Amino acid sequence: MGVVASAPAKIILFGEHFVVYGEPAIVLAIDKRAYVKIEASRDDNLHLRSKTLNLSGCFEGNSFKVEQGNAREAKIKFEPVKRAVESVLEKHQKHIGLNIEINSSIPVGAGLGSSAAVIAATAAATGALLDVKLSKEEIFRITYETERIVHGNPSGVDPAISTFGGAIIFQVDTGFKPLDAKENIPLVIGETGVERSTRAQVEKVRIIVEKYPRIVENIMKAAREVVLRAIDAFKENDLKTLGALMNMNHALLYGIGVSDESLEWLVNAARKAGALGAKLTGAGGGGCMIALSEDEKLQQVSEAIHRAGGRPFVARKTDEGVKIERS
Ligand code: MEV
Repeated sequence: MGVVASAPAKIILFGEHFVVYGEPAIVLAIDKRAYVKIEASRDDNLHLRSKTLNLSGCFEGNSFKVEQGNAREAKIKFEPVKRAVESVLEKHQKHIGLNIEINSSIPVGAGLGSSAAVIAATAAATGALLDVKLSKEEIFRITYETERIVHGNPSGVDPAISTFGGAIIFQVDTGFKPLDAKENIPLVIGETGVERSTRAQVEKVRIIVEKYPRIVENIMKAAREVVLRAIDAFKENDLKTLGALMNMNHALLYGIGVSDESLEWLVNAARKAGALGAKLTGAGGGGCMIALSEDEKLQQVSEAIHRAGGRPFVARKTDEGVKIERS
């Protein structure tokens, strides 16, 4: 039977990249989830299978053997899962083999936090299998430490939202606070289909920050003001202002070099079709964009994104963070 846990994808509404440098970000958990099923295996090894990516393989200690798919890709994708499992096993001084199956509806490498969701669900499922109750703070910590290996210097925003769900204001120094948002926020997500690495995008920004410190300092200040103004607009449910602020946030991200042609097509198409605002979300350089729209225009904004070559879907906020689906 085994244990199943799940965790949600996320979108960053405001503040990606700047959040790595201590600025606030606004993030939403959305109704796409990663599911991880874990059961004890007959041997001491870690058997992993991703139904979504058509990959499978086995860790015997540190040596990895691929069973399905490309060996390098499988190792890169499974290594963080192995680390999350080991963190839980080591903490509780257990040494057992496991069969792990990942099934996710979150697009991979698209800026929607798929890796954090898989890791958070893995940690939760491992804890449940061992019959130890992991607090959400512990799951967040394990996910964050594992993400550091995958992403280099992450802010912790992805692990926080995958673990806690809902809508949050996140800042490295102060952690997270729930966001006071009156209503659901009508959003279309557009996938460019261009895969990119968060680590590479974060590194690209680091080079710009080092090269133009005084200019970037002002961009960061503007990004902070955008987030502060957005917090008020959420309280007032002022979608028009939120849209305008999204456009400004996108311009700032463009300025630090993290947009690309595939994103610009979709962002412009959404705005032309009547979106109140549109921006890239997550690390950029491909991945996804988001468009805020009045409910009655969601369809036409989706169609425009589709015509511009993107894959659109309407996103709904979810309050459910990481959770055990079956124990
Ligand atoms: C990635 O989802 C968000 C970034 O700001 C990186 C991070 O915060 O770790 C680009």
